[in-house]
Amino acid sequence: MASVARVLFDNGPHKVLCFDQLVTGDGVQSNQFLIIDHDEHALLDPGGDLTYMPLSLALSRYIPLQKLTYVFASHQDPDIIASLDKWFLHTDCKVVCSKLWARFLPHLSAGFLSRGQGMATTERMIAVPDKGMDIPLGKCTLKILPAHFLHSVGNLHFYDPVSGILFSGDMGASMLDDAEPVGNFSEHLPSMEGFHRRYMAGNKACRLWANMIRTLKPAMMVPQHGRPFVGPDMINAFLDWISQLECGMDLLDQTHYRIP
Ligand SMILES: [Fe+2]
Ligand SMILES: [Fe+2]
Repeated sequence: MASVARVLFDNGPHKVLCFDQLVTGDGVQSNQFLIIDHDEHALLDPGGDLTYMPLSLALSRYIPLQKLTYVFASHQDPDIIASLDKWFLHTDCKVVCSKLWARFLPHLSAGFLSRGQGMATTERMIAVPDKGMDIPLGKCTLKILPAHFLHSVGNLHFYDPVSGILFSGDMGASMLDDAEPVGNFSEHLPSMEGFHRRYMAGNKACRLWANMIRTLKPAMMVPQHGRPFVGPDMINAFLDWISQLECGMDLLDQTHYRIP
């Protein structure tokens, strides 16, 4: 059933839930995530108008919606944060995003929505510096990692040390309609390849990012579209592949810049 979450981790006070069946119609399949620690909650990359209503209904089965602590936005895209105004209006959340987007996202929200909460829109934004930061949630601390140019110029990934889950945004995304874990890496590749070649900015960013993730050693890597990678074998297969992938600027030549 659409409103039932996929439970990625649950030790009682700390839970990670995935909603993977809320997009219907024309939008690309996308996963929304909720991290609960004690009485605080972070919602990751909630999407736009397409997901707001089913997602808010689904969330209210697990948390008191108004008490949502944070909305994390990995970048500025429509499938990430276009519903910003509704989260501001219906919850007390603060929005965590790259400092590059903190000045632009208020364009998605009428100023009065936030002032109703006693704060200006900018006071409800946590602007993350380029090097990333730690952020407290309940009794744990989440890590906000730099992932710039993968694909947005100001791009962040989120890491939950309690569950060991890396939320990798569009990195590792596959154009499939479900969030079953990847079973066979080489069979999975065709669903990722074209997307990463066109949407990621270049091999250098991929390689430096992969080096950072190798030291992090996540237990699971969950992208915002399609299937997660579970365990070191699958995650390392992805990191090895992306480290050598030519993409974005690597593939450009004059034929890409001709007057149509
Ligand atoms: Fe995106
Ligand atoms: Fe996306």
